[in-house]
Amino acid sequence: MPVESINVQRVAEEFELDSEFTWAADAKITGKSGAVHKFDLVVTSKKDESVKVAVLKGISDDLVSDIMKFNAIAGDCGISLKALVIEKDLDQTETNLVHMYNIVTIDQRNVTRSKSVVFGVKELDESLGGAMRRGNVYMIAGKTGVGKTTTCTQFLVEGAIIGERGAIILTDTRGSEYIANAKTFTFGFEEYYKEGMIEVIELSDRIRELKEGVLESLKSRERYISKLTGEIKRIIAESRISRLAIDPITPMIVENDDFVNQFIMNLAIPDTYLIVTSPVMKSDLSMYGIEEYFVSGVIKLEVDDPTSGLRKATIVKMRGGSYNPYPFYFKITTKGIISSQADTEPRSSGSSFFKKVEE
Ligand SMILES: Nc1ncnc2c1ncn2[C@@H]1O[C@H](COP(=O)(O)OP(=O)(O)OP(=O)(O)O)[C@@H](O)[C@H]1O
Ligand SMILES: [Mg+2]
Repeated sequence: MPVESINVQRVAEEFELDSEFTWAADAKITGKSGAVHKFDLVVTSKKDESVKVAVLKGISDDLVSDIMKFNAIAGDCGISLKALVIEKDLDQTETNLVHMYNIVTIDQRNVTRSKSVVFGVKELDESLGGAMRRGNVYMIAGKTGVGKTTTCTQFLVEGAIIGERGAIILTDTRGSEYIANAKTFTFGFEEYYKEGMIEVIELSDRIRELKEGVLESLKSRERYISKLTGEIKRIIAESRISRLAIDPITPMIVENDDFVNQFIMNLAIPDTYLIVTSPVMKSDLSMYGIEEYFVSGVIKLEVDDPTSGLRKATIVKMRGGSYNPYPFYFKITTKGIISSQADTEPRSSGSSFFKKVEE
């Protein structure tokens, strides 16, 4: 594996350096000890040059010594962000070391699929261009009946297909009702639910008691947020969940900027894809008109033509990535979200302000 073959973009994504980074192969850095150390690759943030990721190619026969040395020299150079690029499975000792030293492993064998397939709907995933990241909170917004819950179900099934366990927390529907409906889709919910790859969780009525007084005092607000998000994180960790949907988020929050900001910040879960849904009311993107500011991205769903059932999804916000702002047209059938792109204008892959002239 030559250095050129390391997916530098992937390393930058993993550490959320966005597109603002520089990189150097076989980089030499002088450590605090005065010794000059060489790294296979160093990726540096353009925004803050003190943010550096040291990368080790996991190729040698003695990876254990390599990892130990890599960790030591990164420490000497004051670099805490470390990645190990591999193209094979690590053995137990190597895995333990990597965990102990807080080194992120990047498996180059299957990066394309796991990184860019979020909904399993080709056009929508392509429009997102890999901009949706694990560890952030994204929102699917739209009026009733537009397809928010269906989008969540498909997102979980798509995860299950690639071996990622998922859960949906229902805040305003009975679990039995949700399951009965989701089972009628033919894209595989029923099988994955039965196998336990998808969990369905209901929000209990206890939430109302817990929510009491959250607006009156800072202390009770903090208690509520840490209790609820703590409970969610516990479920995620216990069931080893990689994809979570909260549908809708509204009953968990109150109409207050600081509250929503703090809640969403606390809700983000490392390594987990998290989507929340919201009906629209005070703004065309959310219930209270504030949720959209605090999430990392928003996909807006709308009915385009009520007669034919044609709908459209528009990415209206997606932090730290390039995405296609042109709407994606679809219908919902028993097969789930079906692209209707053929019925509409062809999509331009570049800017929608320009049109290519052809003779
Ligand atoms: N099992 C199904 N088979 C076929 N079509 C379905 C199925 N379930 C839902 N639909 C269609 O998808 C549409 C969107 O439903 P969905 O429950 O995803 O909307 P929603 O945005 O979550 O609505 P709400 O805000 O009321 O929860 C429905 O109006 C219906 O036309
Ligand atoms: Mg719904």
